[in-house]
Amino acid sequence: MESALPIGVFDSGLGGLTAVNEIRKILPNEDIIYLGDTARVPYGTRSRETILEYAEEDLGFLKSRGVKYVIAACGTVSSVMMSEGGFRDRLCNGVIEPSAAAACKITKNRRIGVIATGTSIKSGSYEKAIKKALPGAEVISKACPMFVPLVENGYIQRDCIPAVKIAEEYLLPLKDAGIDTLILGCTHYPLISGIISDILGEEVSLISSGAEAVRYAKKVLEENGLLNKKSSPGELRLYSTDSAELFEENACRFIDIKDVKVEQIRLEE
Ligand code: DGL
Repeated sequence: MESALPIGVFDSGLGGLTAVNEIRKILPNEDIIYLGDTARVPYGTRSRETILEYAEEDLGFLKSRGVKYVIAACGTVSSVMMSEGGFRDRLCNGVIEPSAAAACKITKNRRIGVIATGTSIKSGSYEKAIKKALPGAEVISKACPMFVPLVENGYIQRDCIPAVKIAEEYLLPLKDAGIDTLILGCTHYPLISGIISDILGEEVSLISSGAEAVRYAKKVLEENGLLNKKSSPGELRLYSTDSAELFEENACRFIDIKDVKVEQIRLEE
């Protein structure tokens, strides 16, 4: 396996770009290929069978582009894959175990909150991974189905009243339960971490699942001698399954893609 090959990242939409941001920060020389399946977002309301089928197509696309490693930067795909026994490929990881491990390391009172899509929460994958890493932990989980449409439509500012109201509805019970750590179990959620923090207070540590997945991938790449050895900055290529213009317009709100062209693709080709 060639260390000079790109890292592939996929998500149902824009959320996985939070993982791309982290790769650019901690692995600045890596080339990245990102696929956002914007034509079929959200995944979080779909059946297990459909998500498995979509994930296979996303993975297939990245593999066809010759990536050396894949990060499934989607909480929903990662949850479903975990209940299927995990990713078959050793050079691929999701977000569940890395973020559960980070939360277990940070928590002091062992009360850990998890917010994610309905499918992720229903799968129980985060809870299982946390309890495996820290058997005495208490896990308080909450599905937050309205967060993804808010993010995809740019309702992410701290003073955005509809977003704040919805977030209060979801998060106040977790605050009342006394969590000291919260896993943002869907890669879209770090984009509203300002709103989340304003509600929970600074004393609650927020874990970004996409960022943790990248830290984990870095370790595996290192262990396998697969880190890119070049000294020039890595290149980013973005692919979407819905309109490239729309993707660009929404993505540039939170990631610097000035010189990056987005290309629209069809997955079944
Ligand atoms: N990115 C997905 C996740 O992390 C959320 C969006 C969706 O439902 O597709 O779960």
